[in-house]
Amino acid sequence: MVRDCLPTREASGEELCVDSSPTGVPAPDAPLPEPPQSGQTVTPWLMVVLVVVLFSGGLFGYDQGVISGALHGMTQALSLSQIVVEVVTSWVTLGALFGALAGGELADLIGRKRTVLIAGAMFTLGALVQALAPDTIILVAGRLIVGAGVGVAAVAAPLYAAELAPTNLRGRFISAYQLAITVGIFLAYLVDGWLSESDSWRMMLGASAVPGLLLFVVALVAPESPRWLMKMHRRPEAAAELHKIRPGVDFEARLDAIEAALREDAGGASWGEVFQREWRRPLMIGIGLAVFQQVTGINAIIYYADQIFAAAGFVTQSSQTTVTTWAIGGVNVLATLIAIAFIDRLGRRKLLLAGLLGMGISLGVVGAAFQFILRGPEVAASVAPSSAGLVTLVALVGFIICFAFSMGPVVWTVINEVFPGRIRGRAVAVATAANWGAAFLVSQGFLSLVDAIGDGPSFWLFALFCGLGWIWIYHAVPETKGRSLEQIQRFWQQSGSER
Ligand code: BGC
Repeated sequence: MVRDCLPTREASGEELCVDSSPTGVPAPDAPLPEPPQSGQTVTPWLMVVLVVVLFSGGLFGYDQGVISGALHGMTQALSLSQIVVEVVTSWVTLGALFGALAGGELADLIGRKRTVLIAGAMFTLGALVQALAPDTIILVAGRLIVGAGVGVAAVAAPLYAAELAPTNLRGRFISAYQLAITVGIFLAYLVDGWLSESDSWRMMLGASAVPGLLLFVVALVAPESPRWLMKMHRRPEAAAELHKIRPGVDFEARLDAIEAALREDAGGASWGEVFQREWRRPLMIGIGLAVFQQVTGINAIIYYADQIFAAAGFVTQSSQTTVTTWAIGGVNVLATLIAIAFIDRLGRRKLLLAGLLGMGISLGVVGAAFQFILRGPEVAASVAPSSAGLVTLVALVGFIICFAFSMGPVVWTVINEVFPGRIRGRAVAVATAANWGAAFLVSQGFLSLVDAIGDGPSFWLFALFCGLGWIWIYHAVPETKGRSLEQIQRFWQQSGSER
C-alpha cells in the first residue's frame, strides 16, 4: 500500500493521507493513470470546451458589470423610481442565486453540455427582452432571465471544465473561466464608457445577445462530459467522447476508474445526501470559500468603484470612469493571468494564502488612507486627487491584483474539484448559490455600511474577513493540485470514515 496525501498545513508538514494500492489496476483505491503525454496536449475538442467556458464566464462578467452604465439612461427613459432602480440592479444576483440551484439540478439531470446550452439560450433571450422592454415589468423580467442564465452558467461551465480537463490542466481550465469573467467585466466598463454619451442603455444591455447566441451554437457541437455519461450508464458514448477529446489517453482504463468511483456510491443522490456527514468537510470548504470570496469585499469594489474613487478625491466623472475601467477592470484581467500560469504549478493553497495576505494588507491601507481624505468644499474645488486619494488608488490596485491571482480563480477551481461525482452537481450549486447570496448581501449592504460606520472602518471590516479567511483556509483547505477528481473523492471517503 502507498500513502496518498492531500497536504493541509504545509508549515507544520502535516498531511491528510489515505492508503491506496500501487497496482495500477483501475480500482477504487488506485491512483488514476494519467499518461504523461495526454495532459500536455490541448486537442481541438478541448479547445471547444475552452470556448464554452470562456463564453460562459464572459457573459457572467458582462451582465454583472454592464448595469452601472445603463442605469442612468433607463431611469430617465422609463421614469424608474428608486426602488425599481434597486430591483433592476440587484435582481440579476437574485436570479443567479436561484439559477445556480436549478443549474446544479439540471447539470445532473440532462448533462453538463445541455445545461450550458440552456444558459446560452437564457442569456440571449434575457438580453433581447431587456433591450426591447417597453415597460418596467418586462425590463425586470429580462433582468431575472439573464440572472438565471448567469447562475446556471456559473454552475455548469466550471463543472464542465473540471470534468473535461486533464488533471494537470484542470486548474488552468477553471481559471480561464475566471479570466473570462474579468474580461466580461472589463468589456462592460468599456462599452458603458463608449455608449454613455448617447445614453444607449438598450444597446448596452442588448449587446450580450450576440455572445449568448454564440455560446448556444458552440455548446450544440461541444462534447458531453464522459463522467456524466458514465453516471448515466452510457459507457459507449462516454468512450466515444473521451476518445474524441483526448485521443492519446488509455480511455478504457480511465472509464474503469470513473466507473469504480461511481460504483462506490451507486444510486441517485438526494438533496439530503449533499448535506450528510460523509461530505460535510468538502461542503464546508465549498461554501466557506464561496462566502469568503465575497465578504472580503470584491464586489463592493467592482460595483462601487466610481463612488469609492469619487470619495478618494477623483472629482470628475471621466477621471472616475477611467480609473475604474483601467485600474480595476484592466488590472483584474491581467492579474488573473498570473493564476493561470501558476495554479497547476504552485497549487491552490499557496495562491489562496498569499492572495488573502495581500488583500488584507491592501484593505488595511485603503481604510487608513480614508482617514486622511478631505471632504467638503476643498475636494469639490480641487482638480487632482490628494496624496491620500492616490494611496487609495494604489492600494485598491494591489487588492485587485491579489484577488485576481487567488480568491477569484482558485475559489471556483476548488469548488469544482472537491465534491464527489455523486453529489457534484448539487453541491457545486449549493456553494455557488452561497456565493451569490453573499454577493447580494455585500453589494446591497455596502453603501449602508459606509453610512453606518464610515469608509475606513468598512474596509477594515473586509480586511478582518481576509484575516479570518486566511486562518480558516490554512487549517481546513487541502491541496488538490495534481489529484484526479476520483482521488479527491476517495480521500474524503477515507478521511470521513476514519473520524
Ligand atoms: C466573483 C465575482 C466577481 C469577479 C471579479 C468572481 O470570481 O465570483 O463575484 O465579481 O470574480 O473578477
